[in-house]
Formats: sequence, C-alpha cells, structure tokens
Amino acid sequence: MKTTLQVQLAARPGPEGPALQNFALCDVPLRAPGAGEVLLETLYLSLDPYMRARMYEGANYAASAALGAPMPGATIARVGTSNADGFAPGDLVESAHGWQSHHVASPDTLRPIPDTGLPVTTELGVLGMAGHTGYGGLLRYGRPQKGETVLVSAASGAVGSVVGQVARIKGCRVIGIASGEQKCRYLTDELGFDVALDRRDPWFDAKLAAACETGIDVYFDNVGGEIFAATIPLLNTGARIAVCGTISVDRNQPPAQGTDRLTMLHSAILVKQLSLQGFLYTGLLDMTEAFRRDMTAWIASGELRYREDIVDGLENAPEAFLRLFTGENFGKSIVRVAHA
Ligand SMILES: NC(=O)c1ccc[n+]([C@@H]2O[C@H](COP(=O)([O-])OP(=O)(O)OC[C@H]3O[C@@H](n4cnc5c(N)ncnc54)[C@H](OP(=O)(O)O)[C@@H]3O)[C@@H](O)[C@H]2O)c1
Repeated sequence: MKTTLQVQLAARPGPEGPALQNFALCDVPLRAPGAGEVLLETLYLSLDPYMRARMYEGANYAASAALGAPMPGATIARVGTSNADGFAPGDLVESAHGWQSHHVASPDTLRPIPDTGLPVTTELGVLGMAGHTGYGGLLRYGRPQKGETVLVSAASGAVGSVVGQVARIKGCRVIGIASGEQKCRYLTDELGFDVALDRRDPWFDAKLAAACETGIDVYFDNVGGEIFAATIPLLNTGARIAVCGTISVDRNQPPAQGTDRLTMLHSAILVKQLSLQGFLYTGLLDMTEAFRRDMTAWIASGELRYREDIVDGLENAPEAFLRLFTGENFGKSIVRVAHA
C-alpha cells in the first residue's frame, strides 16, 4: 500500500514556545485517488511564521492544527496519477496539504502553476503569498509617496525584502531592520535599501532615531514588540502603519516587562492622526493581477531581487521552521521534499 511521510504536530508547545519535540515524523497509509481526484507528490513545502500560531490550542484568525495531523502549509506538488479532467501526470500545482510527501486531492483545492520562466519555488516566495503580502500590504495600507521614508522590519525576509524594494521602486527612502551584519549588508548592497539597522545592536534605538531623522512616514511592521514601540516617537503626522506580523511576540509568552506603550500609542494615533491597519493576505487577493504583472516585470529587469533559503528533506522541516524565530533563516524558507 502507498504511504505518505508526514511531519505531524505531536504535542502543543510549552511555555518555552515551539521545539523539536512538538513534531513527529510518521509514515501513514494513503488511499488511491478516486474518481475526479489526483495523487500529488510534494516537491517543495513553504515554511511560514503563521504556522507557530496554528500549533497552539484555540484559533486566532484560522483554526489551530490538530494533534496527530500533518502541520499545515502550502506546497508545490507534481501530479502523479490523475482521474481529474484538466490535470495530467507531471503537472505542477500549488496545494495546501501541509507537511507531507504525498496527498490525494480534489482539483478545486489546487492552483496550476503558470510558467513564468522563474524557478517554481518563487511561487511560494516572491511570487507567492509572502511576496503578495509585501506588495499588496505596502501599496494598499502603507500608501507610500515619492520621497517619503519607509521603515520595514524583518527586512531581509520573504515579505520584508519585497516591501523594501517596492518602496524603493516607488521613490521612497527605505530603512530596513534585520539581524546581523550579513543580512544588513545584503539590504544595502544587493537590494538597494538606503539604511540597514541591526536589531541586536546595543545602540539600536539611538541608531533608529538617527536614521529616521526626518521621521517615519510608513512603518511596515513584521515583528511587533519592542521594535514597534521604538518607532512610535519617530512617526510623522499622517504616518501609516501596516501591521503585517508579530513574530517577536509568541502568544504563549507573558508580555515582557517594561514594554507597555499602549498609552503612548493611543496618544500618538490621535495627535499625529496615524493610520494603523492590520491586514491579512486573503484581503489582498483582488490585487493578484497587478501583483504578478509588476513583480515579474521587476524581477525580469533586475529591479527586484529575491533570496530563498532551501533546506533538503521533509525530516528537516521542524529544524528549519524553528530557525524563522531565531533569525537564522536568510530569505524565503522552503523545504525541498523531492527533486523536481
Ligand atoms: N498578514 C499576513 O497575511 C501575513 C502574511 C505573510 C507573513 N506575515 C508576517 O510577516 C512577517 C514576516 O514573515 P516572512 O514569511 O517574511 O518571514 P521571514 O522574514 O522570512 O522570517 C522571519 C524573520 O523574522 C525576524 N524575527 C524572528 N524573530 C524575531 C524577533 N523576536 N524579533 C524581531 N524579529 C524577529 C527574523 O529576521 P531578522 O532576524 O533578520 O530580524 C526572521 O528571519 C511575520 O510576522 C509573518 O507572520 C503576515
């Protein structure tokens, strides 16, 4: 009988947050595809920060993952056996079947992968959900204007690198926050950011204030927490804050001491007439055509670059996933599950 290799959620994280022991590698039986169904072989699995929230009990904007089930996630898969019209063996599709090597799917859950001439992994990164979130979130909620200062955190990552480069293309002055010298050099030397700041620098707050001498017009917030707090006094009147992610805050952790800036934020929202908008990728899907048109053109012309952090082997997915929360990933995090 055919089987699928799965990385399952074996236990919910404890107070220390997600750890390797929360995952289990299991080979489970897989039924044959029925009428109208296809058998998929996973080639690539996307690893994304939202998966951490799914490991906990209780939903936030999506249901939590079930214990003993594969971790959720988007994949690029190859069609094997097909009993479905319009799908032939060898076709490549995007499927949300999670951390597993094979899956039987119904075609209405699949997105055929267009041939862009770029590596297929881009459909999980710069041309996928992450790139779309950066492009759409910046343009719709950041509303960057030529000459304005745009600040983005987790700037070398899948979302942040798109935000910063689109802001640069729109004529903004771009400041990126990342961890470590290598990522900061990448931002300025390869992606054309005006300034890169190391969030682990002991003088980070002072350097952020100096870099934002004329204030921040758009803050694309990928991390929340202390970095968000540090931006509040630097926001210009009318600044837009696009609240994309809160990776610095693990919801299992109690709030850190001394970082409660709520009163300060309320006052800044009023006095500086700020727009602070939380958003989800799913609310940006009406921008798909413009997103794909602009991004493929900018990548082809060399105006926009991307970086992928590809790890081999489904069994290595948990370790690669945990690197998202230590800043050890460098670029869009992807697991190669099988060779194309
Ligand atoms: N709203 C939506 O629909 C949506 C969609 C996609 C992604 N997101 C969010 O966007 C953010 C970026 O996602 P991504 O896929 O592009 O990930 P990524 O930037 O490729 O990787 C995560 C990065 O977050 C930074 N980070 C990790 N822990 C941190 C901490 N404690 N404090 C500050 N920074 C920390 C690290 O960068 P450095 O170490 O270099 O700082 C790490 O490399 C995440 O918060 C994610 O949840 C939201």
